[in-house]
Amino acid sequence: MIIAVDGPTASGKGTIAKALAAHFGLPHLDTGLLYRAVGRQVFLDGGDPDDGGDALAATSFPDSLLGDPHLRDEATGGLASRVSVHPAVRQALYERQRSFAMQPGGAVLDGRDIGTVIAPEAEVKLFVTASVEARAQRRFLEMRERGVHVTLLEIEDDLRRRDERDTNRAVAPLVPAADALVIDTSTLSREEAFAAALDAVNAATGQQPCP
Ligand code: DC
Repeated sequence: MIIAVDGPTASGKGTIAKALAAHFGLPHLDTGLLYRAVGRQVFLDGGDPDDGGDALAATSFPDSLLGDPHLRDEATGGLASRVSVHPAVRQALYERQRSFAMQPGGAVLDGRDIGTVIAPEAEVKLFVTASVEARAQRRFLEMRERGVHVTLLEIEDDLRRRDERDTNRAVAPLVPAADALVIDTSTLSREEAFAAALDAVNAATGQQPCP
């Protein structure tokens, strides 16, 4: 079973994908991490994330970079969004994601284009979203916990900029697949969001819903 979980930044898609993977005993890939690694590598190389050549060169980042704590930084998220507009970068990361999706037994992948490009044949496609305000509030609390000083307004501005770039890029834009089930987590707790996702998976695969 392939479960595709797409959606914007801080929508809760990563948490849902991880929880579904644990529930069904499936391997999980956070594909945003690959784009973040490319963004981080461009930075380390002193390159320009808006330059297709610099960004493509950074796709040969070492695997060890995937463990870099800086990948979670907001700045790296912004770089990831910028390198992800280049078709050659998306192409370079395609095979790795595709083979993860196609492994025997199935997998859960979260990102922006899993249901539309990476695994259009996925049995289950979820599009997890939430209002900018709700997402900014979550990100704000998360950053405060990590001791990062940033205002709610700065986070909201950044999310809007990234949404705009991810949604309007020419290749593999952030859009729900035609057959995706949309889950809006704006007013849902983590538990409620996971329950909604589980119901959606069960409905898509013909299982009985949870009592
Ligand atoms: O999910 P995230 O915030 O870690 O993703 C960071 C950026 O990477 C996001 O703004 C766009 C890009 N991305 C993408 O284009 N396609 C994916 N499948 C995953 C992420």
